[in-house]
Amino acid sequence: MATTTPTEPAKTAAPPTKSKPSLIDALRAIFSKSEEPPEDEALIARRRKFVMAAVLGALVVNLLMFLRFFFPRALYEPKTKFKIGFPSDFGFGVDTKFQNAHRIWVVRNTEGIFVIIAICTHLGCTPDWKPSENKFKCPCHGSGYDSEGVNFEGPAPRPMDRAHVELDPEGQIAVDMSHAYSWPKGERSEFNDPGAILHV
Ligand code: FES
Repeated sequence: MATTTPTEPAKTAAPPTKSKPSLIDALRAIFSKSEEPPEDEALIARRRKFVMAAVLGALVVNLLMFLRFFFPRALYEPKTKFKIGFPSDFGFGVDTKFQNAHRIWVVRNTEGIFVIIAICTHLGCTPDWKPSENKFKCPCHGSGYDSEGVNFEGPAPRPMDRAHVELDPEGQIAVDMSHAYSWPKGERSEFNDPGAILHV
């Protein structure tokens, strides 16, 4: 009598586990020569170019950022010394033509020519010249100054400062904004000091 052995259930082979390709594997695949068909080679060549362009771009950006440290941003301050023309260019009264370029007014009165720095002595706004009222009026808090820059209304504590003036060798008026003359409240006025006014 033939005996039959129970058949063991067939062992099913476990499917091979796919490990994730690492970045190095991916780059190696892109840069290595392959035996792929021509269309695949073209695709790989395009990818290679793309990666090369990205790497080069990153290198250029880093290089530019590095070089930038050697070229600090420059601050361009307005000039503090400049010429405004000859005394004969200025008639009696207030001349506002340098207000935008240099923030000054040139004034001629019976004593000579002087330059008012167009900064309100309250909080630093730029007053407006009102020819019809013969005064400067600050738009911020209402301070008023007469045609020589002397305060007479509003919160301004003192007259506006004046810039240093002198004649250069050609006879032009040279202004130096870094040297100012003031008249603090209750103190001596510097408005008649040499350099505060040109007696011309
Ligand atoms: S800043 Fe001119 S009145 Fe205040």
